[in-house]
Amino acid sequence: MKVLKIGGSILTDKRRIGAARLGEIQRVADEIAVNPEDLVLVHGAGSFGHIPARRYGLPENFNPEGLRATHSSVVKLNDLVIDALCKAGVFAMPVHPFSCVLLRDGRIDSFALKPIEEMVRDGLLPVLHGDVAMDATRKAGIVSGDQIVTYVARALQAEVVAVGCNVDGVLFSGEPLRELTRKDLPSIEGALGGSAGVDVTGGMRGKLLEMLDLADAGIMSVIFNAGTEGNVLRALRGEPIGTMVRRPN
Ligand code: IPE
Repeated sequence: MKVLKIGGSILTDKRRIGAARLGEIQRVADEIAVNPEDLVLVHGAGSFGHIPARRYGLPENFNPEGLRATHSSVVKLNDLVIDALCKAGVFAMPVHPFSCVLLRDGRIDSFALKPIEEMVRDGLLPVLHGDVAMDATRKAGIVSGDQIVTYVARALQAEVVAVGCNVDGVLFSGEPLRELTRKDLPSIEGALGGSAGVDVTGGMRGKLLEMLDLADAGIMSVIFNAGTEGNVLRALRGEPIGTMVRRPN
């Protein structure tokens, strides 16, 4: 099984609410369509999520109107992604994490994965996304696409895990590292950036910490530039692109 994440910075203009990059969404969908089997797709929320979340003070403040507005905004982006996949000939179906995830202290505590497994088995492509979610200890919170990727990849023992963002991998002195383990973290931490635009889920640092957790569980992943044409296709074929995050030898 493969898990692919496409960051919100590829699909949207992260500085402007509701600004979808329709051309990029279709390009990514077309690349996925070459190899859509046995795949779970997760996409980021981009400006559809980060801007309303910030506006309503999520996740720090519980705010029902903020929850509703943020969720319905990310669902709109999910609709656009599904439409593009359908146009590319892929049988894509939405899975909204708000309805099937429970957090505890901001981390996924339970996740109804059975329908997702069934979809994959029956030739459908489940399309999940970063979302707001209920939290057993904090009322509500935000579940990033990256956290969803690690949870799903571990639970379903994925063979390929690829996280697409808008840079060439984990950059050190401007160059992408070919591979990275938890041991390398102290020496590169100072160089890790947040994110351009509004980001409530931690930018590259947050992403890398999720991938390192996954590596600890024995599952390798790659962080790659999904904005470069052909890279989504390469990532789905398991080709070595970007930065590979793995367990130390
Ligand atoms: C964030 O999801 C979810 C919300 C803000 C509601 P992600 O963290 O996965 O989104 P991107 O990839 O940074 O846009």
